[in-house]
Amino acid sequence: MPARTIIEPFRIKSVEPIRTTTRTERQQLLEAAGYNLFLVASEAILIDLLTDSGTAAMSTEQWAAMMRGDESYAGSPSFTRFRDSVQSIFGFRHVIPTHQGRAAERILFNVMCKKGDIVPNNTHFDTTRANCEFVGAQALDLPIPEAKEPAKFHPFKGNMDTVKLGELVDREGHKRIPLVMLTITNNSGGGQPVSMTNIREVKAICKKHNIPLYIDACRFAENAYFIKLREAGYSDKTPAAIAREMFSLADGCTMSAKKDGLVNIGGFLCTNDDILAQQEKDLLILTEGFPTYGGLAGRDLDAIAVGLHEALHEDYLKYRIASTAFLGNHIAAEGVPIVQPPGGHAIYLDARAFLPHLPLSKFPGVALANELYLEGGIRSVEIGTLMFGEHATMDLVRLAIPRRVYTQSHIDYVVEVILEVWKHRDQIPGMRLTYEAPFLRHFTAHLEPVSLTVAR
Ligand SMILES: Cc1ncc(COP(=O)(O)O)c(C=O)c1O
Repeated sequence: MPARTIIEPFRIKSVEPIRTTTRTERQQLLEAAGYNLFLVASEAILIDLLTDSGTAAMSTEQWAAMMRGDESYAGSPSFTRFRDSVQSIFGFRHVIPTHQGRAAERILFNVMCKKGDIVPNNTHFDTTRANCEFVGAQALDLPIPEAKEPAKFHPFKGNMDTVKLGELVDREGHKRIPLVMLTITNNSGGGQPVSMTNIREVKAICKKHNIPLYIDACRFAENAYFIKLREAGYSDKTPAAIAREMFSLADGCTMSAKKDGLVNIGGFLCTNDDILAQQEKDLLILTEGFPTYGGLAGRDLDAIAVGLHEALHEDYLKYRIASTAFLGNHIAAEGVPIVQPPGGHAIYLDARAFLPHLPLSKFPGVALANELYLEGGIRSVEIGTLMFGEHATMDLVRLAIPRRVYTQSHIDYVVEVILEVWKHRDQIPGMRLTYEAPFLRHFTAHLEPVSLTVAR
């Protein structure tokens, strides 16, 4: 009989101590950080669920590959290994390395978009939206209606609303829509997957109007595994075969390898268009570096080449998806409102439902994230009114799980802390902004608590 316990499919060879702090220390640190967890030093965090980006533990094979890294400025074999690895999964003609995902986004939007254009996406991530708007284009989110209801179950809640996309494209045509994007999995929408059927439908709409489809591929392996688990006709296919099929429907992609590349830094931009590729490489040289390294060291390219394939191993994906669901299911069973069903890389607390006494102007997501830190030294991130301003349709607190980093008992601890905070939720005060930057304000904002007795 196969064992029911899904174990971490690795053993630990190198350890990194983590430090416990007292509630009084955390209170002082948080105040000094302007009640913004981005501004708290990581030594003062016990369990860091701020992001799954760049926080993975690398494997022995990746460390070994790094030693093979060739640091030649031009034509390094590290680039050849990187490009071949990317092409064996993604299949695109041109592979342009960048230092991380947002550099790929900046280059893509600079080359493809102009003022007044519209870029539809299931949901733009914050850096994607900011880079799109920075060139004067409109970043338009078209998620399916179910995506806006946190408690609602849907196997592919990351899907794009193809009816709305069809109407938009019929109305505006390719002149105003230079590309359509699909973010897999949909990070801002709850880490939810996009089905192969949806990718196919979006592609068909794009093709009819001669508009290229680009995939924001950060969590492509997790998306492929959800398709295997949930979509008819895919249970016998490998995650790698499913990933290849997903990308065969697209004309290019942006990628932050800090997620499903299982590395601490790196990314890339791919396209099948020879002319665009040339323009993109010209821009790359201006700010990132020569096209065979793009702002990365040769050793980084080698680590990505290995990591992309490790992220598609089925035993890894089984453990990854199961351990995220474990956290979500245990807190949901006690009544904690989360985005359902659990996503691939993170659990999202629904802060509006968790703290119904706080109006949106008092940033319920920030208030909840700060309380998790005060209670148990856990760092999470608000994805809501502070991050997206008026575009926010939900106020979520994302608990992102770094890849291959924490064990079952760490997750048990996180469950315990969340349930403790749930018990005294009506005592949690809202927040008021005291400083904000003109864009991407959540990274540097300063806030302060507002007394619970202040009128709403
Ligand atoms: C969906 C998505 N797109 C783009 C990015 C940007 O990638 P990077 O942080 O490497 O610039 C992220 C990062 O979290 C993301 O989740």
